[in-house]
Amino acid sequence: SDIAVGIHDLSFASTEFVLPHTALAAHNGTEIGKYHIGIGQQSMSVPAADEDIVTMAAAAAAPLVAAHGSDRIRTVVFATESSIDQAKAAGIYVHSLLQLPSACRVVELKQACYGATAALQFALGLIRRDPAQQVLVIASDVSKYELDSPGEATQGAAAVAMLVGADPALLRIEDRSGLFTADVMDFWRPNYRDAALVDGQESINAYLQAVEGAFKDYSEQGGRTLEEFAAFCYHQPFTKMAYKAHRHLLNYCGADTDKEAVEAAIGLTTAYNTVIGNSYTASVYLGLAALLDQADDLTGRPIGLFSYGSGSVAEFFAATPVAGYREHLRTKANRATIERRTPLDYAGYRDLHQRTFPGDGGDHPTEAQTTGPFRLAALRDHKRIYEAR
Ligand code: CAA
Repeated sequence: SDIAVGIHDLSFASTEFVLPHTALAAHNGTEIGKYHIGIGQQSMSVPAADEDIVTMAAAAAAPLVAAHGSDRIRTVVFATESSIDQAKAAGIYVHSLLQLPSACRVVELKQACYGATAALQFALGLIRRDPAQQVLVIASDVSKYELDSPGEATQGAAAVAMLVGADPALLRIEDRSGLFTADVMDFWRPNYRDAALVDGQESINAYLQAVEGAFKDYSEQGGRTLEEFAAFCYHQPFTKMAYKAHRHLLNYCGADTDKEAVEAAIGLTTAYNTVIGNSYTASVYLGLAALLDQADDLTGRPIGLFSYGSGSVAEFFAATPVAGYREHLRTKANRATIERRTPLDYAGYRDLHQRTFPGDGGDHPTEAQTTGPFRLAALRDHKRIYEAR
């Protein structure tokens, strides 16, 4: 079919609090260069006691619903790997908070950090079937590792909401995708744990193998060549990973890997992730937002997106900004989302990190901390109670 399908609008939200890496480094004696340069992270978003993947997701999606209404939204796909329930989809709480129509399907998707790209691809298929409808795709995650573990410095939290439809105002997404799946244990989180387990070096190797595998398939499917792309957005578990990934891809393709070429291809995509940290499913789309917000006019110039989810599944595909897209960016709001966060000291961060939910079915109001538009007010009878301000 020749109808253009893609991302009509994109908005993101993060948390009430932020921990600067200087505070973590002062606590654990790490030389700050390791964080700022070695992994490329400045700070990490930390959820308040009354924030979670649902409050971030609703905050991310609310401006889209306010701008475009919800009449045409017949599907909500919520991608996450920091799920709050094994049965009920987190998107149903968002559907309720945003008063979306009852004639709607809502589902949650999981494959580590790759889930939102699966959601986006499924959405495009639905739009091709019925171009009049819109699909709300949400990626929302809290990245949490053990205190004092190597992964701790790569935590973060954010949600991205994308309104997907025909004749999109921002980006057209091309049908062709490069795919790669391999059974690896690089990063995982058993149901009984709330912090992820990771084999750091193995995860970096697995990621690089997936870059190669997905791009190989993309080329074999008749995809674009490297030179056709104006920029590349990679999943960013930490921003330095995008640099490793792009150098790996250039090497794989036999292209020049000089520093300036790499910086020109990916530099702008790291601006939000370096201060937010890993947001798992949302990360690659925060990279896209940062690129669109800062780049000169990219109209008609393809952007390569590489989505990676440990375990592992990866996909490489192309998105092209359409004429007039810059008028639809949310650059000011995006910067405000980052700047509104309150810095935590190390002790405050540690308290939040160590909080656990009592599993006794009692009435447990949460401390009112967030100034955001939605909050988790209580856990009562094993039910999560949300409220809109
Ligand atoms: N100044 C500058 N650079 C310094 C430095 C200093 N003072 N000290 C160290 N560095 C550099 C090191 O040389 C190294 O750089 P290279 O990778 O280029 O060699 C970098 O800082 C990191 O140092 P280490 O490798 O020693 O760091 P570490 O052992 O603490 O682990 C990590 C780093 C593996 C990323 C760890 O933070 C981790 O396990 N993170 C979680 C897993 C992860 O994010 N994996 C990414 C791929 S998996 C994925 O993408 C899915 C997902 O979202 C999780």
